[in-house]
Amino acid sequence: MVKICCIGAGYVGGPTMAVIALKCPSVEVAVVDISVPRITAWNSDQLPIYEPGLDDVVKKCRGKNLFFSTEVEKHVAEADIVFVSVNTPTKTRGLGAGKAADLTYWESAARMIADVSKSNKIVVEKSTVPVKTAEAIEKILTHNSKGISFQILSNPEFLAEGTAIEDLFKPDRVLIGGRETPEGQKAIKALKDVYSQWVPEDRIITTNLWSAELSKLAANAFLAQRISSVNAMSALCEATGANVSQVAYAVGTDTRIGPKFLNASVGFGGSCFQKDILNLVYICECNGLPEVAEYWKQVIKINDYQKSRFVNRVVASMFNTVSGKKVAILGFAFKKDTGDTRETPAIDVCKGLLGDKGRLSIYDPQVTEDQIQRDLSMNKFDWDHPLHLQPMSPTTVKQVSVVWDAYEATKDAHAVCILTEWDEFKTLDYQRIYDNMQKPAFIFDGRNVVNGDKLREIGFIVYSIGKPLDAWLKDMPAVA
Ligand code: NAI
Repeated sequence: MVKICCIGAGYVGGPTMAVIALKCPSVEVAVVDISVPRITAWNSDQLPIYEPGLDDVVKKCRGKNLFFSTEVEKHVAEADIVFVSVNTPTKTRGLGAGKAADLTYWESAARMIADVSKSNKIVVEKSTVPVKTAEAIEKILTHNSKGISFQILSNPEFLAEGTAIEDLFKPDRVLIGGRETPEGQKAIKALKDVYSQWVPEDRIITTNLWSAELSKLAANAFLAQRISSVNAMSALCEATGANVSQVAYAVGTDTRIGPKFLNASVGFGGSCFQKDILNLVYICECNGLPEVAEYWKQVIKINDYQKSRFVNRVVASMFNTVSGKKVAILGFAFKKDTGDTRETPAIDVCKGLLGDKGRLSIYDPQVTEDQIQRDLSMNKFDWDHPLHLQPMSPTTVKQVSVVWDAYEATKDAHAVCILTEWDEFKTLDYQRIYDNMQKPAFIFDGRNVVNGDKLREIGFIVYSIGKPLDAWLKDMPAVA
């Protein structure tokens, strides 16, 4: 029986390994982590992450061929294939701070693998890493190997949170990079044999190590670039009276462009896009390609611009101040169908409104008060470290309350900001919300989920990203 061990039981490690266990009953899968609460949660009825369909998959395999454990060394020692899916945060200090990937966790995982291994192993990079990480890992492993042979493969993960299980069941592609030596090719085949239990052969792409590593960074950069492109257009739409949804539709019907990822919004978030682009920028700079670095940097700059533009709209529309005013925030997760708040645009928007002394009442169906308070008081990039290394008792932000209902959040509010596209926000009773708000009542729709015309009929002043502006908004000061 092939034994797989995955180091890192997070958003990637957990779902990916659960699906491998489900699709490959003859493989034994152990997912290990240094975080005791995380592993406890994986072994309970309340899984540590919310992902549609995940509960089902875990229930079917847990205790049979899927195990979650904190006995990291034991499971690594027993495994034939070791996936490494640990955090790869942005460095906060030293060389490359604010851009380069911090490989502390990766390196410590690699050293541990070398220490405890007694048999040959395939080590698989599942985390997103800078190009040439495999080479560094190879050096760490071989210099400490005591005669054991390690083959390194790069197998970046392309799942999207919110649709992770669907994506894993039917991936657009599985990418496996390895050495072009006979041993490297043998390792690629061993991993291919796992995926080919459910993924059609033509969807499994094999490349050299560096192409696989770079493809992941490139894919995220391209995806984020589409969002920044449509968001940049949204600003121009507001200035000219064009409607960004109409423009995006017209553009997306071109088969060379395609319709996906063209929704204008308050900005992209999630643990990967910004981090991976920063990392790409750093790699370009290190390779003497400042023009290329500058090009990709713009994707992040436009994203930051979009978030601050949104805050400015809110404040400017409300007589240039939200000081002391209650503002309801609907949605805090970085997108619908996940409880993940890492790099969510809601953090920057809330901080912007708090900076203008607004009082915030936040509701998100999947995010806890503790998480929101933590996010609003944590330093940039601190979030991407194992739980036990994050600040434990941050100071709570007093002007923020977190409630468990959209009606409670909006009661007596001057304005509503929609920051996540949860389906339930489409069907709220907006008449009831309007009746219970201060007047004039504003809605700032950062995800274009509500029907602006209907809300205007009720009496709201509505701002929808990239849509023709209400007369009220046009008359307010220009937005930087
Ligand atoms: P995560 O933070 O949810 O999980 C990482 C886990 O690794 C944590 O539970 C942490 O405690 C554990 N860990 C860290 N060092 C360890 C060690 N030495 N031994 C054992 N466990 C250790 O992160 P997530 O989201 O799963 O991401 C992991 C990697 O996958 C990152 O490189 C990320 O860029 C990449 N990725 C993430 C995607 C996503 O949608 N979240 C999608 C594709 C790739």
